[in-house]
Amino acid sequence: MHGVIISNLKKYVIEKLGDPAWDSLCEKAGMPGKAFIPISMYPDSDLDDLVAAAVEVTGQDRDAILQDFGAWVIPPLMKMYRSFIPDDWDASTFLQNVDERIHERVVRMKDENARPPHINVTQLSAGVLSVEYQSHRDMGALALGCVYGVAEYYGEKATLMEQSNGPGTHRTYTVRLSAGSGVKGHQEAI
Ligand code: HEM
Repeated sequence: MHGVIISNLKKYVIEKLGDPAWDSLCEKAGMPGKAFIPISMYPDSDLDDLVAAAVEVTGQDRDAILQDFGAWVIPPLMKMYRSFIPDDWDASTFLQNVDERIHERVVRMKDENARPPHINVTQLSAGVLSVEYQSHRDMGALALGCVYGVAEYYGEKATLMEQSNGPGTHRTYTVRLSAGSGVKGHQEAI
């Protein structure tokens, strides 16, 4: 697992729950004081154990935490990898290109043996997308949260119309994109 995700999880936890909460999650997860830096790779089990500890501490379920974190993490990722993202993309174009143009590039650049998730996004009709998630990590809820985050980033709104599960950790989300605030996050940040 790429350190950019875990280091952002740390920022998310600190923003939501305060500094000591991160230390206690690391302790509960059996890695007290462990440093996570965005340019390193870590065992998948580190993220799993930290999320399991967050479930225990907050009493929220795993999917709710992953989904909320997925939406939260998009703006910092967009900022960090801005040079990968053409200016004329909208939420739909972004999502349809995330697998090849973002994940493959970001993750394989660091480690060619890494296994990023497969996010296969196709347009079913105007404004309606099918988002297929496949990964051994079973973090479909994180993918759905990222979809919400991307829509919001582009000043749009994503609504979940349908979800189908399986086989295994395979998830398919049908989402509708519609006009939201109209304010694009990257324009705001400039
Ligand atoms: C600028 C945008 C994005 C960047 C830079 C980015 C980058 C990354 C990176 C580096 C990882 C770690 C993967 C690994 O170590 O194998 C990751 C994981 C993940 N990303 Fe993204 N991502 C972005 C947007 C998205 C979007 C839009 C989605 C969903 C539609 C998504 C879904 C996921 C999921 C579910 C994981 C967890 C790993 C797994 O389930 O296997 N990401 N992302």
